[in-house]
Amino acid sequence: MRKLGILLSGRGSNFAAIARRIASGRLDAEIAVVISNKPGAPGLDTAREFGLKAVSLPSKGLERETYDRQVIDVLRQQGVELVILAGYMRLLSAAFVREFPLRILNIHPSLLPSFPGLDAQHQAFAYGAKVSGCTVHFVDEKLDHGPIVLQRAVPVENDDTADTLSARILAAEHELYSEAIALVLAGRYRIDGRRVMLLS
Ligand code: GAR
Repeated sequence: MRKLGILLSGRGSNFAAIARRIASGRLDAEIAVVISNKPGAPGLDTAREFGLKAVSLPSKGLERETYDRQVIDVLRQQGVELVILAGYMRLLSAAFVREFPLRILNIHPSLLPSFPGLDAQHQAFAYGAKVSGCTVHFVDEKLDHGPIVLQRAVPVENDDTADTLSARILAAEHELYSEAIALVLAGRYRIDGRRVMLLS
Protein backbone atom coordinates (compact mmCIF):
# COMPACT_ATOMS: atom_id res chain seq x y z
CA MET A 1 0.00 0.00 0.00
CA ARG A 2 1.83 3.07 -1.19
CA LYS A 3 -0.49 5.40 -3.16
CA LEU A 4 -1.61 8.48 -1.27
CA GLY A 5 -4.50 10.79 -2.12
CA ILE A 6 -4.21 14.24 -0.54
CA LEU A 7 -7.29 16.32 0.25
CA LEU A 8 -6.77 19.97 1.16
CA SER A 9 -8.64 23.27 1.31
CA GLY A 10 -5.92 25.92 1.59
CA ARG A 11 -2.21 26.62 2.00
CA GLY A 12 -1.08 23.01 1.83
CA SER A 13 2.10 23.25 3.92
CA ASN A 14 1.51 19.80 5.45
CA PHE A 15 1.05 18.37 1.98
CA ALA A 16 4.25 20.10 0.80
CA ALA A 17 6.18 18.65 3.78
CA ILE A 18 4.99 15.15 2.84
CA ALA A 19 5.85 15.71 -0.83
CA ARG A 20 9.37 16.87 0.16
CA ARG A 21 9.88 13.78 2.33
CA ILE A 22 8.88 11.54 -0.57
CA ALA A 23 11.07 13.45 -3.05
CA SER A 24 14.08 13.13 -0.73
CA GLY A 25 13.55 9.38 -0.35
CA ARG A 26 12.73 9.57 3.38
CA LEU A 27 9.13 8.43 2.92
CA ASP A 28 8.43 5.45 0.70
CA ALA A 29 5.12 6.47 -0.89
CA GLU A 30 3.66 8.08 -3.98
CA ILE A 31 1.19 10.95 -4.16
CA ALA A 32 -1.32 9.82 -6.80
CA VAL A 33 -3.52 12.92 -6.66
CA VAL A 34 -4.11 16.17 -4.78
CA ILE A 35 -7.75 17.27 -4.58
CA SER A 36 -9.09 20.57 -3.24
CA ASN A 37 -12.68 21.52 -2.52
CA LYS A 38 -11.59 25.18 -2.85
CA PRO A 39 -10.74 26.09 -6.45
CA GLY A 40 -8.21 28.79 -5.49
CA ALA A 41 -6.35 26.77 -2.85
CA PRO A 42 -2.60 27.59 -2.97
CA GLY A 43 -1.98 23.89 -2.25
CA LEU A 44 -3.13 23.08 -5.80
CA ASP A 45 -0.43 25.34 -7.27
CA THR A 46 2.15 23.67 -5.01
CA ALA A 47 0.98 20.27 -6.29
CA ARG A 48 1.51 21.39 -9.89
CA GLU A 49 4.97 22.71 -8.99
CA PHE A 50 5.81 19.24 -7.68
CA GLY A 51 4.55 17.82 -11.00
CA LEU A 52 1.63 16.08 -9.29
CA LYS A 53 -1.90 15.61 -10.52
CA ALA A 54 -3.94 18.47 -9.02
CA VAL A 55 -7.75 18.35 -9.18
CA SER A 56 -10.08 21.18 -8.23
CA LEU A 57 -13.48 19.82 -7.22
CA PRO A 58 -15.60 22.69 -5.86
CA SER A 59 -17.92 21.56 -3.08
CA LYS A 60 -20.04 24.71 -2.98
CA GLY A 61 -23.78 24.07 -3.18
CA LEU A 62 -23.51 20.27 -3.24
CA GLU A 63 -24.98 17.86 -0.68
CA ARG A 64 -22.24 16.31 1.45
CA GLU A 65 -22.66 12.78 0.15
CA THR A 66 -23.09 13.85 -3.50
CA TYR A 67 -19.83 15.75 -3.25
CA ASP A 68 -18.02 12.96 -1.42
CA ARG A 69 -19.03 10.50 -4.18
CA GLN A 70 -17.20 12.71 -6.69
CA VAL A 71 -14.10 12.75 -4.51
CA ILE A 72 -14.25 8.96 -3.98
CA ASP A 73 -14.50 8.46 -7.77
CA VAL A 74 -11.31 10.47 -8.39
CA LEU A 75 -9.48 8.69 -5.56
CA ARG A 76 -10.52 5.29 -6.94
CA GLN A 77 -9.59 6.23 -10.52
CA GLN A 78 -6.11 7.11 -9.27
CA GLY A 79 -5.73 3.87 -7.28
CA VAL A 80 -5.45 5.65 -3.93
CA GLU A 81 -5.06 3.35 -0.92
CA LEU A 82 -4.50 5.85 1.89
CA VAL A 83 -6.33 9.18 2.05
CA ILE A 84 -4.48 12.06 3.71
CA LEU A 85 -6.48 15.04 4.96
CA ALA A 86 -4.09 17.99 5.03
CA GLY A 87 -5.99 21.08 6.11
CA TYR A 88 -9.16 19.70 4.53
CA MET A 89 -11.86 21.76 6.20
CA ARG A 90 -14.85 19.51 5.59
CA LEU A 91 -16.50 16.78 7.59
CA LEU A 92 -16.56 13.49 5.69
CA SER A 93 -19.87 11.67 5.09
CA ALA A 94 -20.45 8.20 6.54
CA ALA A 95 -20.29 6.89 2.97
CA PHE A 96 -16.77 8.28 2.52
CA VAL A 97 -15.56 6.82 5.82
CA ARG A 98 -17.08 3.40 4.93
CA GLU A 99 -15.36 3.49 1.54
CA PHE A 100 -11.89 3.77 3.16
CA PRO A 101 -12.16 2.05 6.56
CA LEU A 102 -9.09 2.94 8.70
CA ARG A 103 -7.54 4.26 5.52
CA ILE A 104 -8.06 7.99 6.11
CA LEU A 105 -5.70 10.08 8.24
CA ASN A 106 -6.11 13.64 9.51
CA ILE A 107 -3.79 16.05 11.28
CA HIS A 108 -5.11 18.46 13.85
CA PRO A 109 -3.15 21.30 15.55
CA SER A 110 -3.89 20.40 19.19
CA LEU A 111 -3.54 17.49 21.57
CA LEU A 112 -6.95 15.90 21.01
CA PRO A 113 -9.46 15.58 22.60
CA SER A 114 -8.60 19.13 23.69
CA PHE A 115 -9.56 21.90 21.30
CA PRO A 116 -11.22 20.18 18.33
CA GLY A 117 -12.65 22.33 15.53
CA LEU A 118 -11.42 25.55 14.02
CA ASP A 119 -8.42 27.62 15.20
CA ALA A 120 -7.26 24.98 17.67
CA GLN A 121 -3.92 26.75 18.28
CA HIS A 122 -5.72 29.98 19.19
CA GLN A 123 -8.19 28.08 21.35
CA ALA A 124 -5.32 26.50 23.34
CA PHE A 125 -3.50 29.85 23.67
CA ALA A 126 -6.63 31.73 24.78
CA TYR A 127 -7.45 28.98 27.28
CA GLY A 128 -4.04 29.36 28.87
CA ALA A 129 -2.91 25.79 28.20
CA LYS A 130 0.72 25.18 29.20
CA VAL A 131 1.16 22.44 26.62
CA SER A 132 -0.45 22.06 23.23
CA GLY A 133 0.74 20.21 20.14
CA CYS A 134 -0.61 18.20 17.26
CA THR A 135 -2.38 14.90 16.64
CA VAL A 136 -2.54 12.50 13.70
CA HIS A 137 -5.61 10.27 13.88
CA PHE A 138 -7.68 7.88 11.80
CA VAL A 139 -10.82 9.60 10.56
CA ASP A 140 -14.32 8.60 11.54
CA GLU A 141 -17.62 10.40 11.02
CA LYS A 142 -17.16 12.78 13.94
CA LEU A 143 -15.07 15.92 13.84
CA ASP A 144 -11.41 15.45 14.92
CA HIS A 145 -12.38 12.24 16.69
CA GLY A 146 -11.03 8.90 15.36
CA PRO A 147 -8.35 6.69 16.98
CA ILE A 148 -5.07 8.52 17.62
CA VAL A 149 -1.97 7.33 15.75
CA LEU A 150 0.66 9.83 17.01
CA GLN A 151 0.77 13.01 19.06
CA ARG A 152 3.52 15.54 19.69
CA ALA A 153 3.54 18.01 22.56
CA VAL A 154 4.57 21.65 22.06
CA PRO A 155 5.06 23.72 25.26
CA VAL A 156 3.48 27.17 25.49
CA GLU A 157 6.15 29.70 26.53
CA ASN A 158 5.60 32.92 28.51
CA ASP A 159 6.55 35.11 25.57
CA ASP A 160 4.44 33.23 23.03
CA THR A 161 1.71 34.85 21.01
CA ALA A 162 -0.95 32.75 19.32
CA ASP A 163 1.03 33.20 16.11
CA THR A 164 4.42 32.07 17.47
CA LEU A 165 2.76 29.07 19.12
CA SER A 166 0.97 28.21 15.84
CA ALA A 167 4.28 28.37 13.97
CA ARG A 168 5.96 25.90 16.36
CA ILE A 169 2.94 23.58 16.23
CA LEU A 170 3.04 23.71 12.42
CA ALA A 171 6.73 22.76 12.38
CA ALA A 172 5.88 19.78 14.61
CA GLU A 173 2.99 18.85 12.30
CA HIS A 174 5.34 18.75 9.32
CA GLU A 175 7.47 16.10 11.07
CA LEU A 176 4.69 14.14 12.72
CA TYR A 177 2.48 13.60 9.68
CA SER A 178 5.15 11.83 7.63
CA GLU A 179 6.11 9.68 10.63
CA ALA A 180 2.48 8.62 11.07
CA ILE A 181 2.04 7.91 7.35
CA ALA A 182 5.19 5.76 7.34
CA LEU A 183 4.03 3.64 10.24
CA VAL A 184 0.51 3.20 8.84
CA LEU A 185 1.91 2.26 5.41
CA ALA A 186 4.23 -0.25 7.09
CA GLY A 187 1.30 -1.68 9.11
CA ARG A 188 3.32 -1.21 12.31
CA TYR A 189 0.26 -0.94 14.54
CA ARG A 190 -2.61 -2.88 16.04
CA ILE A 191 -5.99 -1.37 16.89
CA ASP A 192 -7.99 -2.20 19.99
CA GLY A 193 -11.09 -0.02 20.14
CA ARG A 194 -9.85 3.56 20.22
CA ARG A 195 -6.31 2.52 21.06
CA VAL A 196 -3.71 2.33 18.31
CA MET A 197 -0.83 0.22 19.63
CA LEU A 198 2.44 0.88 17.83
CA LEU A 199 4.56 -2.18 17.10
CA SER A 200 8.30 -2.07 16.81
C1 GAR B 1 -2.91 22.70 9.82
O1 GAR B 1 -2.49 23.37 10.99
C2 GAR B 1 -3.81 21.53 10.17
O2 GAR B 1 -3.42 20.88 11.35
C3 GAR B 1 -5.14 22.21 10.34
O3 GAR B 1 -5.20 23.12 9.29
C4 GAR B 1 -3.87 23.59 9.00
C5 GAR B 1 -3.63 23.43 7.53
O4 GAR B 1 -2.40 24.00 7.17
N1 GAR B 1 -6.22 21.27 10.28
C6 GAR B 1 -7.29 21.33 11.07
O5 GAR B 1 -7.50 22.23 11.86
C7 GAR B 1 -8.27 20.17 10.91
N2 GAR B 1 -9.24 20.16 11.95
P1 GAR B 1 -1.71 23.60 5.80
O6 GAR B 1 -2.78 23.83 4.70
O7 GAR B 1 -0.58 24.58 5.65
O8 GAR B 1 -1.27 22.18 5.87
